[in-house]
Amino acid sequence: MAVDKGFRFTGVECVKFAVEDLAEACRFAADWGLSYVPAANPEVKLFRTVDGSEVEVVAADPADPRRTPIGGGSGLCELVWGVEDQATLQALADELGKDRRAEFDAEGVLHSVDDLGINLAFRIAQRKALPYDVTRYNAPGNADRINRRAPAYKVAKPREISHVAIGVDDAGQASRFYIERLGFLISDRYADRGIFMRCSPAGNHHHVFFMNARVPGTRFNHLAFKVRDIHEVIGGGQHLDALGWKTFAGPGRHTISSACFWYFQTPFGGSWEYAADEDIVTAEWEAQDFAAVAHIFSEWTFGLEKSDGTLKGPISASKEQKP
Ligand SMILES: [Fe+2]
Repeated sequence: MAVDKGFRFTGVECVKFAVEDLAEACRFAADWGLSYVPAANPEVKLFRTVDGSEVEVVAADPADPRRTPIGGGSGLCELVWGVEDQATLQALADELGKDRRAEFDAEGVLHSVDDLGINLAFRIAQRKALPYDVTRYNAPGNADRINRRAPAYKVAKPREISHVAIGVDDAGQASRFYIERLGFLISDRYADRGIFMRCSPAGNHHHVFFMNARVPGTRFNHLAFKVRDIHEVIGGGQHLDALGWKTFAGPGRHTISSACFWYFQTPFGGSWEYAADEDIVTAEWEAQDFAAVAHIFSEWTFGLEKSDGTLKGPISASKEQKP
């Protein structure tokens, strides 16, 4: 059941990684189309999308907890959420401080942790969408691009971070903290498999996706970036492929969230996804339970076993999707 805490979240601001091969990770991020931004600390490599979403990466160091990703190896160190105002930051500090660390740093960023041990941070949102020419499409009987070629992209230029996916032992259990303590909403669910959640009633279909993983423990699975259109998914993917980076899945089209996608293996401990045309929802959106049938899951072979039927996640308002 959704618990409205009144927190005004905006989305994922920054994803912090620690990796075993920092040079390779930086090469991948640049090839992906992110802009490198020199950081005050030379050990921290900072990359940005067009709207200011950030990826921070440091060399992993098992002796330093701040540089040890959850699950070990290369992976996620901290997930930074954006909020609209200072009042939300303070309310989050009060809520989380009841039973866990909730500390502001010198920059006014609040740091805490979820029930799985994933480091979380919260800051006033810095992302800012910039305008661009919206792609026009021709459909039978509905031509909207006359005497103009469709856009073609030699490289992708990701506009913003869309969502983070994390493999866990029990997605239902993992989602409870986000629903009950942060007020996140369930957007859809793969029955027995995974839960898609958004941080605010209106906006992106999902900002975080927890899915039952084959390997025990909690581990970064993938990070998705929004690009302008399907042409940019294809152009970006072909560019990565030409550079020798390996496809993880795609190009394809998701059943849930409607996105066209292309995933690549990365040096970040999971894959990165170009995504276009994802569903945008409001409070009126009705969550659905998608049945665990093979043709739906063919897109989700991501190192995860077929459903074992153990997920008992909350989705009280869902409708069953007939296969
Ligand atoms: Fe995704």
